Amino acid sequence: MLGVCYYPEHWPESIWQQDAEQMKELGLQYVRIGEFCWSRIEPEDGQFDFAWLDKSIEILAAQGLKVIFGTPTATPPKWLIDKYDDILPVDVNTGLTRGFGSRRHYDYSSENYLREALRISEVLVKRYGKHEAVVGWQTDNELSCHDTTLSASPAALKAFQTWCEQRYKTIEALNKAWGNVFWSMEYNNFQQIEVPFMAVTETNPAHRLAYQRFSSDQVIRFHRLTIELIREHAPGKFITHNFIPMDDTDVDNFALAKGLDFVSFDNYPLGRSDLFFSGDDRHKIAKYQRTGHPDYSSYFFDQVRGLSMGDFWIMEQQPGPVNWAQNNPRPENGMVRLWSLVAFAHGAECVCYFRWRQIPYAQEQMHAGVLRNDSSKARAWFEAQEVFEDLKQLDLSSPALPENRVAILTDADGRWVSRIEQQGVAYDFEKVEFAYYSALRQLGLNVDFVSQESDFSQYDLIIAPCLPVISDEFIFACKNSSAKWIFGPRSGSKTLDFNLPENLAPGKLQTLIPAKVLSVETTHKDLQEVMHYAGKEYTSWGWREELDAGLSQITATYQNGSPAILQHQNINYIACLVSDEFLMDYFESLCSELSIPTVRTPEDIRLARRGQYTFAFNYGNKATELDNVADKEFVIGSGSVPAYGLSVWIN
Ligand code: GAL
Repeated sequence: MLGVCYYPEHWPESIWQQDAEQMKELGLQYVRIGEFCWSRIEPEDGQFDFAWLDKSIEILAAQGLKVIFGTPTATPPKWLIDKYDDILPVDVNTGLTRGFGSRRHYDYSSENYLREALRISEVLVKRYGKHEAVVGWQTDNELSCHDTTLSASPAALKAFQTWCEQRYKTIEALNKAWGNVFWSMEYNNFQQIEVPFMAVTETNPAHRLAYQRFSSDQVIRFHRLTIELIREHAPGKFITHNFIPMDDTDVDNFALAKGLDFVSFDNYPLGRSDLFFSGDDRHKIAKYQRTGHPDYSSYFFDQVRGLSMGDFWIMEQQPGPVNWAQNNPRPENGMVRLWSLVAFAHGAECVCYFRWRQIPYAQEQMHAGVLRNDSSKARAWFEAQEVFEDLKQLDLSSPALPENRVAILTDADGRWVSRIEQQGVAYDFEKVEFAYYSALRQLGLNVDFVSQESDFSQYDLIIAPCLPVISDEFIFACKNSSAKWIFGPRSGSKTLDFNLPENLAPGKLQTLIPAKVLSVETTHKDLQEVMHYAGKEYTSWGWREELDAGLSQITATYQNGSPAILQHQNINYIACLVSDEFLMDYFESLCSELSIPTVRTPEDIRLARRGQYTFAFNYGNKATELDNVADKEFVIGSGSVPAYGLSVWIN
């Protein structure tokens, strides 16, 4: 299924009809509208204008298009901001109020805003909730984007103090849990607690982790109340939310996804790759600047599928150059089609393009659309047309995905702990997780993402690149699991309140693997050292833990001969950052022990399996011949995958 994001309020009424007809002509079924239109439906407090909206929905509906309505709460209008003095959030780095004039200018702790957001959402959902053409709802837009999870406002601080009181009960317990005796940081009562920002030097990591968890809870509260409201007034309609890349949200994404019918994702492979690889590893995307790194989008698709517990949607797909990254290249011809098919291969049910027509004014005037601003057809039109034809060749109805055998375990605490206490500049949670993921994908493996609470029974190999805070329930689940587990460095290294475990790292993991971390060093990224594994030399870099191997078996050693990787029964512990080459060899050998088939794909090729199909995607500029497919029945393409193209065959 295909769709598009559309803003009738940006265009003269005279072209709405033609727009709807052209959407139909292109084979689109879904149109998302509404998520930024608050000032047009309620231009003044309590004065509503629905005539234009009613009409535009009717025009779309008359063409058989199905509407997804976005609650417009990401853009509170000026009159509302002026009416209350607590809606705008406060920047945690400067303490300055963030102003009106763009979007997401609201504080999750403002009770006034929460009430107003629910009010406007209720007005809309009561009016359109039972409208036949409005088949689903999107909550807000990209919650927590633009660094809006954390705020240092008085309202946020007050709510945080209450949150602390509920969690720790007495101030003595909080002081003890956070270690506030250090540097005389002790509080006498909950009202004395400050936000953990703008101090002279670093603030207590336990305080920061608590503020992070609290802020995430505030986003989730806002979201849960919006979902409940829509459920009440739009029975039988789906509710989704368009997530941004998990590394950018600052919230517990698993908790945020609860209550939705499915999760959606906004896919901007070029803009986002440019930000993700903007540091020392820029070279990794040098050749992929017009395609996106071959594992980048799917890294998020697979996470979104995990959040969604099944099929997901792409609510926004980049159709050409965007306007907001440091550099905004054009996609190579073929990439809009390829990205769309990658999404379907990884479990998408629908892909919607953002946006229908390039807008000639305001912030996003340099952002491509399916149409140019003079309504002529841009490249994305023709590629969406190809996707429509591709989809006719495929039956993606069911089952969505095979029972994958390999999973990566991820969680919000891992991201927060390693950001709050980076310890060495070389350590970056997402880069570490991405490296593990990319190695698995280059072995042709389908990968699921799971959390500590997941059911692990379907998996044979589960990899936790960084799991500092571990629950007792999780340890229990591991003990009952026959899967092979791999834990990366830092796992088990913190208590719930950001202290070192009394029995040393890896803390609770010691009940699974008898070993201790004696010390941790971080070094410059370029100072790589030899690591010995299975008779070969690899490298370790950036982060190295000194281990007491105890009764565990030593699988790999550092340059100086001391243990770098340990194994005890089905549990493995990697104590350092390692090269991509090592990860591939290591995972390959573990998979072979588990009889999980792997295939080393050519550098620019990626495989994905969905239902009865295997997809091969070529991110390179040359046609590539695939091995061992001569006897396959091809549904799209052939054994020679064209540059920036794809082939699909029956398994
Ligand atoms: C998304 C956002 C859209 C639009 C788009 C531009 O993150 O949801 O509203 O701004 O980016 O690429």
